[in-house]
Amino acid sequence: MPRQVNVGIVGCGNISDAYFIGSKKFDILNLVACADLDPTRAQAKAAQYGIRACATVADLLNDPEVEIVINLTVPKAHADVNIAALNAGKHAYCEKPFALNSADGAAVLALAKSKNLLVGSAPDTFLGSGIQTARKAVDDGLIGRPVAALGFMMCRGHESWHPSPQFYYQKGGGPMFDMGPYYLTAFVNLLGPVKRVGGSTSSAFADRLITSQPFNGTRIPVETPTHLTGTLDFVSGATATLVMSFDTWTYPLPNIVLFGTDSTLEVPDPNNFSGPVRLRSADGKTFDELPHAHASDRSRGAGVADMAYSVIRRARPHRASGELAEHVVEIMESFDQSSATGRHVTLTTTCERPAALPADLPSNVLDA
Ligand SMILES: NC(=O)c1ccc[n+]([C@@H]2O[C@H](COP(=O)([O-])OP(=O)(O)OC[C@H]3O[C@@H](n4cnc5c(N)ncnc54)[C@H](O)[C@@H]3O)[C@@H](O)[C@H]2O)c1
Repeated sequence: MPRQVNVGIVGCGNISDAYFIGSKKFDILNLVACADLDPTRAQAKAAQYGIRACATVADLLNDPEVEIVINLTVPKAHADVNIAALNAGKHAYCEKPFALNSADGAAVLALAKSKNLLVGSAPDTFLGSGIQTARKAVDDGLIGRPVAALGFMMCRGHESWHPSPQFYYQKGGGPMFDMGPYYLTAFVNLLGPVKRVGGSTSSAFADRLITSQPFNGTRIPVETPTHLTGTLDFVSGATATLVMSFDTWTYPLPNIVLFGTDSTLEVPDPNNFSGPVRLRSADGKTFDELPHAHASDRSRGAGVADMAYSVIRRARPHRASGELAEHVVEIMESFDQSSATGRHVTLTTTCERPAALPADLPSNVLDA
């Protein structure tokens, strides 16, 4: 059993409970403190989860006990908080998106490299049993050579349920920067890095009416594309079509489908850690559910836990890495760039396909 790695959370909003609970599940993590711009939020979570609240974010970043800062702030603060954490000598793991643009993400990666510190980023749902079972099916050759893929995430947005949905309609929000990381990280995990992107983007509504509390009745301006249709050319030669929307009512489309030379694979919702993986049957008439080879109750925090092993064993690359997240950011921004210029965008970033997780690990452990 390796030693535990001490982690501190910055940003105690909506998603933070998943990390407060998730961090306690993984043997390698020891959650010690939290902070927020709003200290009352940090105090409330600290009391709820039995940890220390820091009076300021700077106090947490300078806390000698904290080794990894988990950055759960809003997207526009991600790069700045990551940079502040690295400058304080801490490893940084942030929620998605890694940055609002690839230039900001590159600055974070460069700083981490210069300081010999690690950076990681959500999503970590690809470490769950759903995507890992699909990954094993691809690696075992069950669909032959992957040649094409589809991805769909179409809904009417988040202003009916999220308590502060403003950021979803600002730069760095929209369906691509919100949900694209799940789909694109799953795609890169399954098919490898992307070399070229084409896209058409639009916004059906100039503003949005919040119907959740406490901002019910407030109109918020839309400052980002809310419907994106695009193509991805993978280095492997496979191509994918991706549609992401906050402008359409939900329709029963698959989340991700992979088409290979020998068969077809339905991949579960990449926003979840589990879900059915279905392979086209031998007679081609039905789809057969594949047994999950992996623990089905893995949860948020898995990416941080996987990175914590790398903090201890430096030669071991972590899977939800900054390089993967930066590649995803460049893919995401390229849809709108392609739409504006009327040309494909050839990517400048790439990454290693993360190593598959060993199938027999229990859900609270991420290292053999
Ligand atoms: N809510 C979800 O279901 C969900 C799911 C997955 C991922 N995420 C991601 O998690 C991140 C946070 O989302 P959320 O829904 O928790 O947002 P939120 O607005 O509920 O919470 C964000 C918190 O960060 C704090 N904050 C903002 N800027 C800060 C800064 N510079 N320093 C310190 N604290 C700061 C805010 O005061 C707030 O408490 C986003 O990147 C989002 O994309 C959210």
